[in-house]
Amino acid sequence: MVTRTLLLLPGDGIGPEAMAEVRKLIAVLNDTQSAGFTVQEGLVGGAAYDAHGQAISDEDMEKALAADAVLFGAVGGPKWDGVAYEVRPEAGLLRLRKEMELFANLRPAICYPALAASSSLKQEVVEGLDILIVRELTGGVYFGEPKEIIDLGNGQKRGIDTQVYDTFEIERISGVAFELARTRANKVCSMEKHNVMKSGVLWKEVVAATHKANYADVELTHMLADAGGMQLVRWPKQFDVIVTDNLFGDMLSDVAAMLTGSLGMLPSASLGAPDPMSGARKALYEPVHGSAPDIAGKGLANPIAMIASFAMCLRYSFNMVAEADRLEAAIAGVLDDGMRTADIMSDGMTQLSTAEMGDAITAKYLTLSA
Ligand code: NAD
Ligand code: IPM
Ligand code: MN
Repeated sequence: MVTRTLLLLPGDGIGPEAMAEVRKLIAVLNDTQSAGFTVQEGLVGGAAYDAHGQAISDEDMEKALAADAVLFGAVGGPKWDGVAYEVRPEAGLLRLRKEMELFANLRPAICYPALAASSSLKQEVVEGLDILIVRELTGGVYFGEPKEIIDLGNGQKRGIDTQVYDTFEIERISGVAFELARTRANKVCSMEKHNVMKSGVLWKEVVAATHKANYADVELTHMLADAGGMQLVRWPKQFDVIVTDNLFGDMLSDVAAMLTGSLGMLPSASLGAPDPMSGARKALYEPVHGSAPDIAGKGLANPIAMIASFAMCLRYSFNMVAEADRLEAAIAGVLDDGMRTADIMSDGMTQLSTAEMGDAITAKYLTLSA
């Protein structure tokens, strides 16, 4: 029988609540389909800091590097506002991304038909939306050096972050975007700010050169990232794949989340390069949302982003395409049946708790399997 090692890092706030719903699906896949998932557990974020003073321990980092895939909940919260920058909860996630070399973050924004009326935008703007943001995840201003606060000695301090991109980083992320576009509507829009940033000038040049060399069959456009934010809310259906840097990708994907009805709907996959011999790639699956301290512990969290991240795990790490399709169909089906968590609730629908939504999706999955 196959064995597939999954490391679960639930984290903080609503992370553990959302992860509990994925545990149900892992059990169902093991029981009904002999999926062979072996679950390991680890601590990340504030939970790890509370246990051993680090945002992720070396031991859990080793487990992440050895696992077939990592499922990540969310980190952070006001409880850790005062801790040192180096050990703040978010540092655990950034260490995982960097040390696992997860340079490609896929953030699909799909508006499920049943939720077209839940978006803060007009129904015709979001109905049928299916876009993919490909965010560079291990470079740019998140990791560039110097990164520090220096004392200028005159009562002033200077905060410094550095945006850096090398050619190979832009080549490999745009390659991922072009490859994925070929499986979709074959269009890529690259977003940067070449009008202000040197890294933006290089970004645009390298994307264009990569396109010309290997992907001329894909339609490529370029857009300034600020205008891209505006176009995302004006007419998002003009886009298929958007490729952008680490910081712009972070912001644009939160914007895109609201097109789908709620931040609680957006999954993501963070992928490394495929191994040249085995084709296996390091991968971590994480919802786009954070630890939502305002609703944590109340059963109000929407677990769909976490469950849909697990569907991406089935698809990208284990090639379990039928199961991934079925799980996504189960999510759509439950929404079609009028089931809603509080964040996507509207008149005439049935409001469910986090656990009830997880149960409903699990039950629907089983119906679709039968
Ligand atoms: P957030 O995503 O946690 O919450 C923003 C808003 O969206 C809140 O009102 C929250 O209730 C709502 N929301 C988010 N996820 C939801 C869900 N699944 N169901 C229903 N509603 C949901 O962002 P924030 O408040 O800016 O950040 C809170 C903490 O989370 C911070 O410490 C931040 O650094 C951290 N954060 C972590 C991650 C991550 O772990 N990947 C991502 C973003 C933010
Ligand atoms: C995200 C989050 C993270 C980021 C934080 C928690 C480090 O906002 O994954 O979108 O900025 O990348
Ligand atoms: Mn973010």
